[in-house]
Amino acid sequence: MTTDEKSKAGGVFASMHPYREETETLAALPAKGRSRDEVLAELRGFARREDARWETGQVSGSYYHGGHDHYDFLNEIFALFSHVNLLQRDMCPSATKLEGEIVAMTAKMLHADAEVCGTVTSGGTESIMLPMLAYREHARAERAITRPQMVVPDTIHPAFSKGAHYFGIELVRVPVGKDFLADVDAMAARITPDTIALAASAGNYPHGLIDPLGRLSELAREHGLGFHVDGCLGGFLLPWIERLGYDVPPFDFRLPGVTSMSCDTHKWGYGLKGTSVVLYRGRALRRHQYFTATDWAGGLYASPTMAGSRSGGLTAATWAAMVSLGEAGYLDAARQIMTAADTIRAGIASIPELSIIGDPTFCIAMRSDALDIFHVNDHLASKGWRLNGLQRPPGVHLCVTLPQGRPGVAERFVADLREAVAYAKHPPQPAARSGAIYGGGAMPAGAVEQMMMAWLDESYEA
Ligand SMILES: Cc1ncc(COP(=O)(O)O)c(C=O)c1O
Repeated sequence: MTTDEKSKAGGVFASMHPYREETETLAALPAKGRSRDEVLAELRGFARREDARWETGQVSGSYYHGGHDHYDFLNEIFALFSHVNLLQRDMCPSATKLEGEIVAMTAKMLHADAEVCGTVTSGGTESIMLPMLAYREHARAERAITRPQMVVPDTIHPAFSKGAHYFGIELVRVPVGKDFLADVDAMAARITPDTIALAASAGNYPHGLIDPLGRLSELAREHGLGFHVDGCLGGFLLPWIERLGYDVPPFDFRLPGVTSMSCDTHKWGYGLKGTSVVLYRGRALRRHQYFTATDWAGGLYASPTMAGSRSGGLTAATWAAMVSLGEAGYLDAARQIMTAADTIRAGIASIPELSIIGDPTFCIAMRSDALDIFHVNDHLASKGWRLNGLQRPPGVHLCVTLPQGRPGVAERFVADLREAVAYAKHPPQPAARSGAIYGGGAMPAGAVEQMMMAWLDESYEA
């Protein structure tokens, strides 16, 4: 990082290294191994301290289950297979059973019929990038397209931009409508002979909203295009919210134009971090994400996803999460989440200075015409809340998970939010602390990018 970048970063980077003062910073392997007890004690200390931040229930998203009993069970399962490499399937036929069942259970939950197939991946980003690759390869093989384009609403997750960047696809990001949903007519207008697929969200990350997927499904069919639904966020929650009787429009394989979906087991699937599912309508499309090498000195090489070696522990723990919860467990969890989300939503709606963005269910975004929403966020942060900052329009969201479903947490949020609005009416300083990057607009885009790169560099400075 350059000196200039360092001085601009100011206190932002200082907070990244709280352990520098307390522990030795290693720049090389210790000459002699440390005792296991000592290693365990040090890491246990880090984990306890970091867990304490979200155990209050005040952190948006990220910690989806939050039950240490549940994590202990998954960790016990993880330990059984943590050392196993899933690439060597002859050594672990159990993984073939477990991954096949993870895919089948996820597909069934999303109303897939027998032609839907899929793979287990390392997370939502991979479950998005692989179908992008598959659509590109399919279009190259079937339609001789060499300059592929995908048309998406601009609220779609940056994993699509990353996939486009990696795979040489032009991502046509179309502004959403006044309702913050994908603008179907505007997307239709951007379809060209080079379009390989459309994509939209159920729900999207910024506002938790479900795009008009029924109309987009028809649009994809009219044009003979692939259509990916990003269900990374909603895929494991919306089916249960719908069963609870909430008004959820069809978002999955019930829509005939949907040709692929991403759905994250490591979010509301309540698995450990590091797994997700990508589903395809038809085995032919899935084939396009596979990689094979037949002429290598090391033998024949075949890999279904982006990673080479993978730990069997994550697959086993994901399967264990799913079967130990069962339908009843997912439904009960969704009930707790929606009870909290309803309280939070009603609380925000009762504060005249705030408005809720769109008509959300479990991930609730708010903005304000009356005051700087980042001042509101500053005060909430001082009370221990960690919301996610948004831009265009400036806002914050609270993505409700089970820790917010614990008694009294949602009510505490509403009380603190009221206080935060009062604070934001007369803030002690004009510039909000939490708006520096998300809300800003004062910083030119190039400078923001440099800062973000420097932040990534800094995350590898022990
Ligand atoms: C809608 C949506 N899509 C994709 C992703 C990417 O998932 P991951 O972080 O697991 O790669 C996220 C993550 O929050 C998301 O909210």
